[in-house]
Amino acid sequence: MQLPVHRATTANLQALYPFVVETGLGSEGCYVGRETGSGASFVYDPWRLYNTQAITNANILLAGVLGRGKSALAKTMAFRLAAFGVRTYVPSDPKGEWGPVAEALGARPLVLGRGMATRINPLDPGRRPSGIDEPTWDREVRARRISLLQALTETGLGRPLRPVERNALYLALDRVAQSEADLERRRTPVLPDVVDALMNPTAEMARAIGIRSGAELAAQARDAALELRRLVVGDLAGLFDGPTTHPLEFDAAMQVVDTSRLAGDDTAVALLMTCASAWMEAAIADPSSGRRLVVYDEAWRMMRLPALVRRMQAHWKLSRAWGISNVAVIHRLSDLGAVGDANSEAVALARGLLADCSTRIVYAQETDQLASTASQLGLTDVEASLLPNLPIGRGLWKVGRRSFVVDHLRSPEEADLVDTDMRMR
Ligand SMILES: Nc1ncnc2c1ncn2[C@@H]1O[C@H](COP(=O)(O)OP(=O)(O)OP(=O)(O)O)[C@@H](O)[C@H]1O
Ligand SMILES: [Mg+2]
Repeated sequence: MQLPVHRATTANLQALYPFVVETGLGSEGCYVGRETGSGASFVYDPWRLYNTQAITNANILLAGVLGRGKSALAKTMAFRLAAFGVRTYVPSDPKGEWGPVAEALGARPLVLGRGMATRINPLDPGRRPSGIDEPTWDREVRARRISLLQALTETGLGRPLRPVERNALYLALDRVAQSEADLERRRTPVLPDVVDALMNPTAEMARAIGIRSGAELAAQARDAALELRRLVVGDLAGLFDGPTTHPLEFDAAMQVVDTSRLAGDDTAVALLMTCASAWMEAAIADPSSGRRLVVYDEAWRMMRLPALVRRMQAHWKLSRAWGISNVAVIHRLSDLGAVGDANSEAVALARGLLADCSTRIVYAQETDQLASTASQLGLTDVEASLLPNLPIGRGLWKVGRRSFVVDHLRSPEEADLVDTDMRMR
């Protein structure tokens, strides 16, 4: 047509080309797929949205029935965000499906299994972040170890710790730390040290909390000690009871702990997830490490146990301080209410997790879940009516106060990476 070239900004050209109009959440961030309403590309970046105050935290809850592409979404997001320098941590991969993604990013998944040489020490302190002095760091490490030991014992016991037991744990941990400092061995404590100190407390430890003898303290703390012992001599022995064999690669684009070889009862799996996530905490807790995504795939397994929900909640609360975005993958929102009796602290904590996720992505839900999902997320009738029939890969995104229905699109390479159906074929 021999017309001169004409340039204009998208602000002016949108009248001619509506598809270049910014819809969704803007144009900066990682590509997710297509918004079904406008047909426009949908991009998402929790850190950017936080900075623009579109959301109040960077945490994500991802809920949906089996096999609708929840893990696929989490994996592709991690894969795509890696291009933006975001590192991803998967503290526990109970189905062993994250390995290919890690490998595609040049990282090696850490595989834990009985009889394998791999071992991780959940008491590892990690790398001291720059800007934190040694005493502060020591206190932080101690606090983290306490919260881990407490979660492990409470989960094993199936009840909160009694005050004596809790104090016995503090004392045992301090004795272990002390004896190492004295000997100047500076070896990182391992779980057997703690179990030993808990089983054989000294008279001095007992006196510190007004108990007459070490033997009496031992008797009072025995149940807690025996639960921890499970990780040292019981069915979970050989995984978390020695020094770490494969140090955490702080700078890898992705770190995955593959726990799929360890099928067992839910409590065992939850204990594993706890140890693995405590171990990774060493890397996650460093605020100078940049933007990181922490994915709890199959998080509903952890959420069944109040002690673990408490730990997760602490991570959720700290996400801003650490610069991380936590992703919890569950089946349905009622998983959050299944951690205890209706009015219990555990349920309140789990519901609190939902409140601390500014982004909620809902994939297909069973019809019996509709009313409660709609009320918990404040869905409109139209949104709720979509939920039972959402096809694979399509989800309702509630980002802050806005809603989008998005088709998650994958490139052929990504489709291969996230395929979990190959064994069925
Ligand atoms: N966006 C998509 N488009 C087409 N197929 C998809 C999409 N996302 C996932 N799939 C396919 O659906 C299958 C199930 O996906 P995925 O394992 O991610 O589901 P899930 O929701 O995590 O399931 P589960 O609850 O069992 O863990 C995979 O084989 C994957 O290839
Ligand atoms: Mg999955």
